Amino acid sequence: MDIFSLKNKRIVITGGGSGIGLAISKAMIDAGGEIIMIGRNEASLQAAKEALGSNAHYVAQDITVLGEIPGMVAKIENDFGPIDVLVNNAGINMKKPSIEVTDEDFQRVMNTNLGATFSLTREVAKSMISRKSGSILMISSMAAYYGLDRVPAYTAAKAAIEGLVKTLAVEWGPHQVRVNAIAPGFIDTAMMQTAMNSDPARMEKALGRTSLGYFGKPEHIGHAAVFLSSEAASYVTGVSLRVDGGNAIGF
Ligand code: NAI
Repeated sequence: MDIFSLKNKRIVITGGGSGIGLAISKAMIDAGGEIIMIGRNEASLQAAKEALGSNAHYVAQDITVLGEIPGMVAKIENDFGPIDVLVNNAGINMKKPSIEVTDEDFQRVMNTNLGATFSLTREVAKSMISRKSGSILMISSMAAYYGLDRVPAYTAAKAAIEGLVKTLAVEWGPHQVRVNAIAPGFIDTAMMQTAMNSDPARMEKALGRTSLGYFGKPEHIGHAAVFLSSEAASYVTGVSLRVDGGNAIGF
C-alpha cells in the first residue's frame, strides 16, 4: 500500500516530543517519513529522538517567539531539506471560570494555539507554494464544535483554527498545498488528565457522549495524521476530520 507511505517525506511536528505529538511523530516514522520535532523542552525532545531512532530530529524552540520563526524554518530547510508536511500540534489549555480569565491568560492561550500556528504555517507555506507541493495539518478540538464551559480562550483559538483551515485551503489549493485539521475527541494525555482529573463530573460527561465508550489514545490521532499527509489523501483539502470515538455526535 505505497499510497499510504511517507517515504522520502520530511515532516515537521510542533510539540512532537510528548502526548499526541509524540504519537504523530512515531506514526510518521513507521510510515517511512523523516521527522523534525519542535518543542520547548530539550530533555523530552532528546528522549523522544532516542526512542524514535535515526529518522527523528528535533529543534528546541518556543514557537510563540514569532520573530525567530522565519530563521528557524530557513535553518530546518537548510539542515534537512524542504518541508513536505507541517503538523501544527503544539497547544496549551487553561481551564477556569471565564470571569476569572485575565487578558494575559486569554492572550497566552491565543498566542500559542492560534498566533504561533499561523506564523509558522505562513513561513513553511512560502516554500511549499513555490515547489507546488505540501500538506499542512492543524490540530483542532471538540471545543471548536460545541460549548465547553471554562475554556474560553482554548475554544476561541480552536474555532479560529477551523476557519483558518478553510481560508488557507482555498487560497493555497491552486498551488497544490493541502490544508486540513484533525479534531481529536478526548484523548488520554497529560493535557486531558490536567483538565479532567480534578473534575470527575466532566470526565463522566465526556465519556458518556463518546459512542465507542472509551477515551482515545494518542496513536489514534497519529494514524489519521499519516493518512491526511499521504498521497492517499491527495484530493482531501479543507476538511476537519473528527477522530473522537463518536463524541461530537453523541447525545
Ligand atoms: P500535551 O500538553 O501533552 O502536549 C502539547 C505539546 O505542545 C508539548 O510537547 C508542549 O511542549 C508543546 N508546546 C506547547 N507550547 C509550546 C510552545 N510555545 N512552543 C513549542 N512547543 C510548545 O498535550 P496533548 O494532549 O498532546 O495536545 C496536543 C494537541 O492536541 C494540542 O493542540 C491540543 O489542544 C490538542 N488536543 C488534545 C486533546 C486531548 O484530549 N488530549 C483533545 C483535543 C485537542
